[in-house]
Amino acid sequence: MPDADPRTVYRAPVGTHDVLPPESERWIAAVTRFADRATRFGYGLVVTPVFEHLEVFQRVGASTDVVRKEMYELTDRGGRHLALRPEGTAPVVRAYVEHRPTPPWKVWYLAPHFRYERPQRGRYRQHWQLGAEVLGSDDPDVDVEVIALAYGFYADLGLNRVRLLLNSMGTPEERAVYVERLRDYLVTHGADLGEEFLTRAREHPLRVLDAKEEAWQDVIERAPQLTEHLGTASREHFEAVQRGLDKLGIPHELAPRLVRGFDYYTSTTFEFASDALDAAQNAVGGGGRYDQLAEEMGAPPTPGIGFGIGIERVLIACDGEGALAVPEHRLDAFVVDTIGDGSANAVVNELRVAGLRADRAYGGRSLKAQMKLANRAGAEYAVIVGRDEAARGTVAVRHLPSGQQLEVHREQVAAWVRERRETAG
Ligand code: HAM
Repeated sequence: MPDADPRTVYRAPVGTHDVLPPESERWIAAVTRFADRATRFGYGLVVTPVFEHLEVFQRVGASTDVVRKEMYELTDRGGRHLALRPEGTAPVVRAYVEHRPTPPWKVWYLAPHFRYERPQRGRYRQHWQLGAEVLGSDDPDVDVEVIALAYGFYADLGLNRVRLLLNSMGTPEERAVYVERLRDYLVTHGADLGEEFLTRAREHPLRVLDAKEEAWQDVIERAPQLTEHLGTASREHFEAVQRGLDKLGIPHELAPRLVRGFDYYTSTTFEFASDALDAAQNAVGGGGRYDQLAEEMGAPPTPGIGFGIGIERVLIACDGEGALAVPEHRLDAFVVDTIGDGSANAVVNELRVAGLRADRAYGGRSLKAQMKLANRAGAEYAVIVGRDEAARGTVAVRHLPSGQQLEVHREQVAAWVRERRETAG
């Protein structure tokens, strides 16, 4: 094999990216807000492997692009057929079926997802999702709770331009009847729309509904709607969810053509669309019920519902709305060491133990160079460990914004800085 070209090999693979500080601080902010919110709602963290047996995912989407065309499949050295997680619901349901926790089982997750997609802004081959799933209840109040959990998260981030789109997929039986009607309608009314339209209409009529092709829109808009084909129980469930959302003041738009990309969906489905993103990639989250998936994996009948939120997309939406600015990474204190006898390390350590954000320079640099670093770090105070002060049992403390400097007892410096930071708020 010829030598690899370092310009292409030592780069993140196409469709993936690194997240570096200070951008990564926004990740911390988003993840902690979600974790905090999910905990308040009574959800526990679930962590499942990055890869699963191939069959776990094949079950959830034999007819979907994510599973048919985009999955990262691999065979390990033991000959096992595995796949990197393309979506988060199947692994959680697999874990439920394996461990059989007491229902309702309410869990949240943070996980990387892998899809071999055509990369573009907001669409990656590895993306991260924050998600939640509830197994073991078909109460419409659970649908409302799950939606409220996601909805409030966008508000926590300061996003105002996120719309909730709501639909119902009914039962598999209701959907099967509808799909036949839809297919007939599309094939009859789209006869002049070309081979691509007709092939898709015959093979995956539901997938025609969310097609973006301009020329098809007329026929799509007049297509029969699934919500008109719901049986009484499905309709009542859907209405109860809408009433529940109204009670919580969560605005929603009915979206009868909303088709989510997995086979497992039944009943309530939803998507969160951001008006701050390009229309093609405006979904900042989505989810729905999957009332038969656990049973298909070998458990007794166990309804379920959940959602996934793409972190990268949410952050792009935040950029678009000027929300969740990168917090300034300010230090409380920067320790400047002009002695080099190890006492600066002790001072930095004491400041950190006292709960302050403290850092120092390394490599015996000049006082001037270290003061420059202290300023660049945006530190509030420079704590200068000098020989004369050390002889007096003190350190010099300079308030960098004002330039005021005074001496503080070496033993008291951590408490001194802390007190001032607390009173400064
Ligand atoms: P999904 O709609 O495929 O659903 O993905 C959820 C969210 O992940 C999307 O709304 C989007 O924000 C983000 N996302 C998806 N693909 C990409 C990508 N290639 N690049 C960047 N972001 C992306 C699911 O995965 C379901 N498991 C959600 C669910 C949970 N349904 C029930 N429970």
